[in-house]
Amino acid sequence: MRFYPEAASDWAFRTDLLQLYINAWTVIFTGIVFLGVFFFAIKYRRRSEDERPRAILGSLPLELSWTIIPFFIAMTMFVWGATLFFEYASPPENAMEIYVTGKQWMWHTQHPEGQREINELHVPTGRPVKLTMTSEDVIHSFFIPAFRLKRDVLPGRYATIWFNATKPGKYRLFCAEYCGTQHSKMGGWVYVMEPAAYEAWLSGGGLGSMASQGEALFSQLGCVSCHRVDTQGRCPSLQNVFGSVVELQGNRTVLADETYVRESILNPSAKVVAGFQNIMPSFQGQVSEQNILQLMAYVKSLSGLAPAGQSQPVPGTQDDKARFRGMGPTQ
Ligand code: CUA
Repeated sequence: MRFYPEAASDWAFRTDLLQLYINAWTVIFTGIVFLGVFFFAIKYRRRSEDERPRAILGSLPLELSWTIIPFFIAMTMFVWGATLFFEYASPPENAMEIYVTGKQWMWHTQHPEGQREINELHVPTGRPVKLTMTSEDVIHSFFIPAFRLKRDVLPGRYATIWFNATKPGKYRLFCAEYCGTQHSKMGGWVYVMEPAAYEAWLSGGGLGSMASQGEALFSQLGCVSCHRVDTQGRCPSLQNVFGSVVELQGNRTVLADETYVRESILNPSAKVVAGFQNIMPSFQGQVSEQNILQLMAYVKSLSGLAPAGQSQPVPGTQDDKARFRGMGPTQ
């Protein structure tokens, strides 16, 4: 019999160990309580009709010890759990990024290199993978038991998690939040591949990178007609915006992150850049969450943030040229 599900990520062993630790204390205390119940029931059983027990009025050393000892035991669980949680919540800088969109009732995933998948996710072993996830409709929850990885996916915002897959193979993917009629069927498979096999799989698509798909959308939706370096300042240039602090009207500032970019596409009047008029129409209803993620990848590429999953950009090479493509008048 196996006590734990298959283990295929760095989290698995560490999560299981913590759980084992908490379970061990639970078993120990259950044992103490049960043994105590039987021991005292026998030891202090009533021996005769007129027997009256001696009154006990508390014991300070006893009360202190059963308060302080469990407190420190509980703190070890808390500190251990919190440490793991914070690590779980902070993806490393060099993680490759994959975008996940949940919708009733399927998971869409897209790799920065362009590959799209439905109810499948291909990842390589031995490198951190960060998932940026959102929902098209209701709350879903992305769950890979073999990775000990689960996170709720909410409409209108981005949730991130990360992992390091360790063992090639095929693992279950689930939705772990009741989301309607077909909730139980919302799931699929995660394929963990050796890095070389993953590279081969990646190059099999031919769709163009996610940033270039975003760039195509950018001109298709007409964004390019205004957001250019040469439009005499009608709209803010998007060059190097992502990751920077943007000055807004009313002396406010905002960090240009995923949430800000998404909001600016769907609700442009919410945060207007200082020195500009709010002339941009909303694209609510015209772009899917996946489209927004593609536009996001493009905006990130304009900041020289190489789409995660590719090697770091070398200054002055084609990465730079790619950055300036789309900003020129020819588009
Ligand atoms: Cu999506 Cu349950």
